[in-house]
Amino acid sequence: MNNVILIGFMGCGKTTVGLRLSYRLQRTVIDTDKEIEKEEKRTIAEIFAAEGEAYFRARETDCLRKLKESANSQIISVGGGLPLREENRALLHELGQVVYLRAEGSTIYDRVKGDTTRPLLQGGDPLAKIETLLRERDPYYRAAADVVITVDGKSFSEILDEIEEQLGNDLA
Ligand code: S3P
Repeated sequence: MNNVILIGFMGCGKTTVGLRLSYRLQRTVIDTDKEIEKEEKRTIAEIFAAEGEAYFRARETDCLRKLKESANSQIISVGGGLPLREENRALLHELGQVVYLRAEGSTIYDRVKGDTTRPLLQGGDPLAKIETLLRERDPYYRAAADVVITVDGKSFSEILDEIEEQLGNDLA
């Protein structure tokens, strides 16, 4: 399948890069968080609060399985925790080319500070939480990725140019 899938930590720019890439490549864009919220008719924060994280993770896998039946030539951005499950990484590979938008903890902190929509970053010391989670997750993101793009200090158009350059013929 020839979808382009964007993965990476919360706040690395998946949603914005996804939207811009969809304009540039004239492809539609899908976001797994938004698909889950639409189906559940409630926000991610509400789902975490009412059902817990394990329930949400199961919905993410369901969402990928559905995309495998329907999505082609699309841009797909996925929640920051989705690539941690082995089954999800296999599904991502089947769906298309996987691009990891890699950001430093400080870049992520600048983008998400003050955000109240991400349950995993609430309370305590957010920068410390980001650094810890990022260290744990980076190997999984790399394992899932066909291409790694470092986003720190880059404009969105630079990031898009790099994605196009790296994916080359795979975008045709
Ligand atoms: C999560 C990332 C969020 C969302 C949920 C859990 C994570 O998506 O799926 O809050 O575990 O990293 P974004 O990466 O789009 O913020």
